[in-house]
Amino acid sequence: MSWELAGASLKLIMAGMEPVKDAPLSNFGWWRVGGPADLMVDVTDEEQLAAVMDTDLPVTVLGNGSNLLVADAGIRGIVVRLRGNLRDIAFRDPSAGPGLHKTLSGNTGIAVVGAGIANSLLLRKLDRMGVGGVGCLTGVPGTVGGAIRMNAGTRLGEIGERVAFVRLMLPNGSIETLTPDALGFEYRRAHLPTGSVVTRVGLWVSKDDHATEQEHREEHLAYRKASQPLDQPSCGSTFKNPPGDAAGRLIDAAGLKGAVIGGAQISEKHANFFINTGNATAADLHALIKHARDTVHEQFSVTLEPEVHAVGDWPEGTWPL
Ligand code: EPU
Repeated sequence: MSWELAGASLKLIMAGMEPVKDAPLSNFGWWRVGGPADLMVDVTDEEQLAAVMDTDLPVTVLGNGSNLLVADAGIRGIVVRLRGNLRDIAFRDPSAGPGLHKTLSGNTGIAVVGAGIANSLLLRKLDRMGVGGVGCLTGVPGTVGGAIRMNAGTRLGEIGERVAFVRLMLPNGSIETLTPDALGFEYRRAHLPTGSVVTRVGLWVSKDDHATEQEHREEHLAYRKASQPLDQPSCGSTFKNPPGDAAGRLIDAAGLKGAVIGGAQISEKHANFFINTGNATAADLHALIKHARDTVHEQFSVTLEPEVHAVGDWPEGTWPL
């Protein structure tokens, strides 16, 4: 281990964390590919995250790896997972007075949610409390922080429409709270300050939304199950949909369903899902993604833009495609 990494590791231990060196990342990502992280650490609060930022090593937040393509050479610097109170849920509830509350007693309020909580768990917990508002995350893998970064959504809407505020940490360790206007949500994109880490998110929720959402949810989950290969390792949609069309439709029309490079394959069930059939490398997936993009461009003059994010130590010139 280099002096720099050893020094960073010591700092993290002194701040109460347990960094793991050369941590294998293929266990975490949904594609099950990619090399190790120099250091991987779980942080339980903003103080620990500030200590990570203070090491001056590059910081990558893994979320739950459901939308990331990790390089075969792995990730240099520190990979962080948000745990502890960075997965909490509380409410700002005008009818219950100032401060944060465990439940929503009125009809409408703001759910203040740690960025590390999984979307599915957030939905389950809100559902149990009879609270709705973020049904657009139904079936979306990943964490709330990842959903903000991506402006994740489904046919039921986009998370950006429900955001009251986003609290984040800048690389210098300072905290900033941004309004949705400042975040400039677009289709599958938000404008976050470079190198920042989302720690907490305020989401508009209400009890009125709960019943309507429940109706749509069952229908939506059944649609996904019927149209997407949910039982195979993929990262969901690989490309964003181009304006007025669907990436899946275009890749399908280009005759690419079932196409294989190494251990990577374009799903027979949904052409915007790229699958690890067992022994794919990150390089196989990159080559297949590029092949699909180039073929669609040749045939239809449409340039597809990846929805998945490539992270880590890729050979120079690999990304952007
Ligand atoms: N299509 C084909 N061939 C295929 C796949 C799709 O012709 O192989 C056609 C379908 O018939 C349909 C159109 O393409 O007319 C769109 O397909 P679909 O309804 O499956 O939706 P999608 O646009 O591919 C989006 C989200 C999904 C989300 C579904 C359902 C994006 C990029 N993807 O998929 O989100 O689950 O709607 O709400 O917006 C994700 O983002 O990872 C994701 C899975």
